[in-house]
Amino acid sequence: MTASKRIVLSSDHAAIALRQAIAAHISAQGWEAVDIGPTTPQSTPYPLYAEAAARRVVSGDCRFGLILCGTGQGVMMAANKVRGVRCGVCVDTFSARMIRQHNDANMLAIGARVVGEGLALDIVDAFLAAAFEGGRHAPRVEMIMALEARPEMEGGV
Ligand code: RB5
Repeated sequence: MTASKRIVLSSDHAAIALRQAIAAHISAQGWEAVDIGPTTPQSTPYPLYAEAAARRVVSGDCRFGLILCGTGQGVMMAANKVRGVRCGVCVDTFSARMIRQHNDANMLAIGARVVGEGLALDIVDAFLAAAFEGGRHAPRVEMIMALEARPEMEGGV
């Protein structure tokens, strides 16, 4: 399967069951789920798994990344430190759609201790069904990405 149909998934120990449910859900829709773990329930640092998924996305190996932890916040913060990542935490389907349409997000973070499985699957569906609108949103996304290259304490209003 091509990279355009490949989605990487990772989590920490707090979200293994939900991650596996999402992997099965997207596989049934025809995506190739690249589930990089973990599979054992012992406590594990979420930045390691968030980074591993992020690298798969920015390298072009996978089109999107779905990352999970207890809140979704930790994996989101870690992933957004990797150049090229645009990741948002979503607890609702509207935001999941909008981060694709307006922010061209390439990763989605979900908190397994925040949302139930049914809502999480709907959030994933909303994210994957939406497309970046471009237009007036394109230069704004470019401005986000330019922050990665700018020297400290420069710019702003
Ligand atoms: C693990 O206990 C928890 O801190 C983690 O899953 C996540 O919520 C961090 O942001």
